[in-house]
Amino acid sequence: MLERPAHTDAVKTGRVIWFTGLSGAGKSTLAAALHAELEARGTAVELLDGDAVRENLSKGLGFSRQDRDTNVRRIAFVAGLLAKHGVTVLVSAISPYADTRREVLADLPNTLEVFVDAPLEVVTARDVKGLYLKAIAGEIQHFTGVSDPYEAPQTPDLYLRTDEISVEEGLRRLLQALGEA
Ligand code: ADX
Repeated sequence: MLERPAHTDAVKTGRVIWFTGLSGAGKSTLAAALHAELEARGTAVELLDGDAVRENLSKGLGFSRQDRDTNVRRIAFVAGLLAKHGVTVLVSAISPYADTRREVLADLPNTLEVFVDAPLEVVTARDVKGLYLKAIAGEIQHFTGVSDPYEAPQTPDLYLRTDEISVEEGLRRLLQALGEA
């Protein structure tokens, strides 16, 4: 019979850094910067980014409350599997509903909820993907922040105002919050 190697008894639990905020607030940019930095430091790190998830894991889902919640729960499910094996998981998704965020985060190990914030005027002016103009014109329905709710975290573990600080400063604060400064 195969002996179970001793090290499997002591698999290090990973952690989940959950970036929430409006489209264009800078979640993906900060998550990508943190991903690159942690990878360079030799950390096992994975990024679950809203846009990529919606192309694959959540293909076909829309933007109703039910579909967004399904999307968020799927992401959390995968994050939990990865974290169980010691991976640092970075999640970047609008995840607009406070109750749903609370619920999924409560089931995950070592979480850090990061509220990536910028005023609506700023993200509208940035309009990285050209979606805000369309949403304001009514060409896209149920657009977060314009015609659909975003419930900001009241007590995030980390609050980053991307119109006030640089990506480098955001990264510095993230590493500090992770105890890796
Ligand atoms: S979530 O609400 O389910 O967490 P998610 O982060 O996966 O959203 O996807 C958001 C991205 O989908 C946005 O950055 C934007 O590119 C695109 N998108 C398309 N339609 C909408 C919409 N109605 N509301 C928000 N984002 C939308």
